[in-house]
Amino acid sequence: MAKSKLDESKQNNKLGFSQEDWASAYFNVEEELSNIEIKTIRGEVPKELIGTFYRNGPGRLERAGQWVHHPFDGDGMIASIQFNQGKAKFTNRFIRTNEWEKEEKAGKFIFRGVFGTQKKGGPLFNAFDMRLKNIANTNVVQLGNRLLALWEASSPYALDPKSLQTYGLSDLNGVLKKGEAFSAHPRFDPGHHENERMVSFGVTTGPKSTIRLMEFEKKGNNAGQLISDRKDNFEGFAFLHDFAITPNWALFLQNAISFNPIPFILGQKGAAQCLKSKPNGQAKFWIIPRDCGKFAGQKALILNAPNGFVFHHLNAFEIDNKIIIDSIYYKDFPSIGPNEDFRHINFDEIPEGKLKRCSINLAKESYEIKEVSSQCCEFAMVNPKFQGLCARYAWMASAECKQGNGPLQAIKKIDFVTGEELVWSAAPRGFVGEPVMIPHQNSSKEDEGWILTLIWNSKRLSTDLIILNSDDLSMQATLELPIGMPHGLHGSWVNSI
Ligand code: CO
Repeated sequence: MAKSKLDESKQNNKLGFSQEDWASAYFNVEEELSNIEIKTIRGEVPKELIGTFYRNGPGRLERAGQWVHHPFDGDGMIASIQFNQGKAKFTNRFIRTNEWEKEEKAGKFIFRGVFGTQKKGGPLFNAFDMRLKNIANTNVVQLGNRLLALWEASSPYALDPKSLQTYGLSDLNGVLKKGEAFSAHPRFDPGHHENERMVSFGVTTGPKSTIRLMEFEKKGNNAGQLISDRKDNFEGFAFLHDFAITPNWALFLQNAISFNPIPFILGQKGAAQCLKSKPNGQAKFWIIPRDCGKFAGQKALILNAPNGFVFHHLNAFEIDNKIIIDSIYYKDFPSIGPNEDFRHINFDEIPEGKLKRCSINLAKESYEIKEVSSQCCEFAMVNPKFQGLCARYAWMASAECKQGNGPLQAIKKIDFVTGEELVWSAAPRGFVGEPVMIPHQNSSKEDEGWILTLIWNSKRLSTDLIILNSDDLSMQATLELPIGMPHGLHGSWVNSI
């Protein structure tokens, strides 16, 4: 395993973690393994936990001595952990994107990354190269008999759910045009309209933006089939990473952000580095009626939204003529400038994410917002059976510090009724990834099940998988994966092996 070398070694800082420990998770994954049994170090894997945990994230961050400018530019690698009869098996594969294959052959970066990775040779060699490198690194979900590796600016890559072998770019059975954008954040409707659905979207943007909202059959013989499709046009530029659904609505938050493409065109910056908050801009909610809901066919609603920058939503639900949407707000768009090294970022200088609840009154066309917790958090989810409904509990990754910004080191459960917060912490030397909540199959209790997450264990310079009981966050089991993986992005659970 090639470890990242820091040219400075920082002592434990005031937040109680060491920058070197955190940055030690950035390296290239050199191995691809198949069906390796994973050692359980503590506790037991529950026998009732049967299915596969998939996770996507950057697995290659350096070529020919050149590091990516931002880990989001790292090539996607899927890990799968299959649980059966109290045992767990590990498989990992890089996604053979067209660009990955070419760069493997060349032995160097030959594409620009959206988050600022440039080809060697300075701006002259990067100017006017407008190709986007689809790195398929953001999320992984199963649809029909395919696994989809998602990256929002282009179409998904299809993989085999068991071997993780790459089949190639997918048009989802003719749904997408060649290279059409398809979000990395589908939402799974648990059955508000009979069958389970996967709801997703694609955005094309410029001075005007178009959202294509698509719904797919999730289960049964028709799994993967498109069942509804609508397009809506809106004024202004949009950077939409995520959205939320309720039984009747799809909700988008258009951040007050502008895009100046000139430094990108001139080869000075990556496309995402050209995004900038508009100081006096007005964020908007774009609220689109779902085709299966009560307001099918009606026009989309456009309402003012709170200030701040949102990547991710937790959930949304309807009460009378209100929609409640919980989201993680940043003061500003967090970006890494052209001359900064992502391994040396100062957490104190970057805004932290805070969970806030926004109540939208559709009749009055107004909203109210309140902070749910002042502690820095990301990657929040509810019990998937409560997607689109009023959930009592939420689980998320959170910083160890109570105030300010810090790396994600803890798993937190919030009870929206009592306000109680439970915390399980991997600090000081562990760094958590996105938690995935898996409800117990035979339980009616909302918080009964498990939380799975990967931990960067900086002591052993490798990755652990932990299973917590989702009701009290007690430790169920710790498993040591056979390889280490850089800090990752999103993942999902499938009830099949
Ligand atoms: Co995301």
